[in-house]
Amino acid sequence: MAELTGQIAVVTGAGRGIGAAISKRLGKMGATVALVGRDAGSLAAVKTEIEAAGGVAEVSAADLLQEDAIARLGESIKARYGRCDILVNNAGVGMLGKPLHEIEPETWDVIMATNLRAPYLLIRTFAPLMIAEGRGHIINISSLAGHNSLKNGAAYAASKWGLNGLTYSVAEELRDFGIRVSAVAPGSVNTDFGGSGKGGSWKIQPDDVANVVAMLVTQSPQSFVSEVLVRPARKP
Ligand SMILES: NC(=O)c1ccc[n+]([C@@H]2O[C@H](COP(=O)([O-])OP(=O)(O)OC[C@H]3O[C@@H](n4cnc5c(N)ncnc54)[C@H](OP(=O)(O)O)[C@@H]3O)[C@@H](O)[C@H]2O)c1
Repeated sequence: MAELTGQIAVVTGAGRGIGAAISKRLGKMGATVALVGRDAGSLAAVKTEIEAAGGVAEVSAADLLQEDAIARLGESIKARYGRCDILVNNAGVGMLGKPLHEIEPETWDVIMATNLRAPYLLIRTFAPLMIAEGRGHIINISSLAGHNSLKNGAAYAASKWGLNGLTYSVAEELRDFGIRVSAVAPGSVNTDFGGSGKGGSWKIQPDDVANVVAMLVTQSPQSFVSEVLVRPARKP
């Protein structure tokens, strides 16, 4: 039997890039994966790939900027499965390329709402299900920009520094319930993030991040890895 058989995993931003790689890995490990994102077509393509590999997945189209969409997602998972074992807060936006004083407040709001408020809303939705089970993993996909300065990406960096603070604090709130809350902080990953386009053989691959998530959800009962920083082996 695969390691995660019987477990329910919710992955946001599952239609492409890092989220798709994580979803496919969790599906291969036996979890039923709820694929969350706005683009139902790309989610359906990932579902097809997971099913072709013998896994189970479902499309859960939702805009994480909409609080009621997150509430509906939570109700749907609770009604059908009554549990959530793994939550991966992966969806994120960059909107990089300008100094902070030139970005519009609306841009700041979208970055914060996607990268920081949505993880809060999803934890608010799914932590009670994990508490009821006395187990669970919450994995927040942060960034090395949550540790370093990022010129022309101050709002993005602020959202990821915030996500790290949220992660470490919620980890303390939930560890007595058997729930591990971790951050994964990659450097440059070979995805379309920020519209930059793929390319660069030196970059981390989405599968490399999926490997880290696979390790986090299969830790021994006494182990709690709270954060993993993933750097490209070589610089560009
Ligand atoms: N690529 C990198 O170099 C890198 C480095 C460090 C950290 N990260 C982090 O890794 C995560 C994934 O990035 P990626 O590289 O895979 O980027 P990506 O290919 O641009 O994927 C971003 C995902 O977020 C989803 N998303 C964005 N806004 C959403 C919303 N309002 N509601 C629902 N889903 C939304 C998108 O789905 P829809 O468009 O279908 O909604 C998409 O699946 C992000 O948190 C990013 O900050 C990336």
